[in-house]
Amino acid sequence: MKTVAFGQTGVEVSAICLGAMEFGTAISKDRSYEVLDAYYENGGRFLDTANIYAHWLEGGKGGDSETFIGQWMRDRGNRSEMFIATKLGFDMPGRTGTLRAEEIESECESSLKRMGIDTIDLYYAHRDDRETPLEETLKAFNELVVAGKVRFLGASNFMAWRLEKARNLSRANGWAEYCCLQQRHSYLRLQAGTTFTPQLTIDDNLQAYSKAENFPMLAYTPLLGGCYVRDDRKLPAQYLGVDSNNRLQALRKLANEIGATPNQVVLAWMMQSDPPIIPLIATGNIEHLRENLAVEDIRLTSEQIIELDAAGICGERNMVLIS
Ligand SMILES: NC(=O)c1ccc[n+]([C@@H]2O[C@H](COP(=O)([O-])OP(=O)(O)OC[C@H]3O[C@@H](n4cnc5c(N)ncnc54)[C@H](OP(=O)(O)O)[C@@H]3O)[C@@H](O)[C@H]2O)c1
Repeated sequence: MKTVAFGQTGVEVSAICLGAMEFGTAISKDRSYEVLDAYYENGGRFLDTANIYAHWLEGGKGGDSETFIGQWMRDRGNRSEMFIATKLGFDMPGRTGTLRAEEIESECESSLKRMGIDTIDLYYAHRDDRETPLEETLKAFNELVVAGKVRFLGASNFMAWRLEKARNLSRANGWAEYCCLQQRHSYLRLQAGTTFTPQLTIDDNLQAYSKAENFPMLAYTPLLGGCYVRDDRKLPAQYLGVDSNNRLQALRKLANEIGATPNQVVLAWMMQSDPPIIPLIATGNIEHLRENLAVEDIRLTSEQIIELDAAGICGERNMVLIS
């Protein structure tokens, strides 16, 4: 698997990150190991988890995914090769889900303990917490970096203005600052007037920010739970609309033309966007994993990317309004 420069951190990370949300709960141990091993054998070294994964699933109590990947790394003896991202900030039974200093400190300790590691490579604020003073949150995160418990900090589910405010504040204080943003993102767009709160999406505004600031973005739920190809998965209502119909048509047409699957076109489009976005793929099915990883062999032309970008009635409407 290719690696990509991770913004201004000075490190390279795998171009495709593997989401570990359901490992240790919904996905059985054998299946999870099969997927993790295959990702690793393909060169993948970037895993994404969170303290809350996945307390809402049957058998889950939170921390299950972290415990699971910690065990996998010990069994495979590969901790030093892996780049491990985890998060805090959402509530779960027994936790308030704030970004207060004491919560940051104690959740980091718990995550390190569950994974059996000394350092988290990338520690995210899983969401913004506007009730807690930014100074308190950012100072506490910085202390983890200074103590060597965390290498890099990330933000997830943030609005652009809050992200910029946080980064400026960290910089002014000489603290470690958020180095990347992880948001919801796929080829289909939320229809106007809809939201996925508390999940926030990547939009044109953030993409322009990412490019201007050399600030990497990561996309979760890139395949919309398999909705592009599966009848057993229903497209969330927020994505239903004329715009989505047009985009689905464009996606399927291009997939047919180049002999790829719609999932692969979504991932290729994302990874070849300007600037490129790192997708977080997740599966408990080895064939799906192979299909998703094979996107590395697909090179879309700039015309094909422009055509995909342009699909959707919104663009046509705007043109009419402008003319
Ligand atoms: N920061 C945040 O707030 C946030 C939120 C949500 C998720 N995340 C992270 O992002 C990761 C991915 O999120 P997600 O699970 O929502 O992603 P997703 O794109 O919705 O993919 C997962 C689902 O898609 C199906 N799938 C995957 N590849 C497929 C293929 N080739 N064909 C058909 N179905 C396919 C999987 O089913 P099968 O198992 O059957 O393949 C699974 O149910 C998570 O593991 C987590 O690490 C972060």
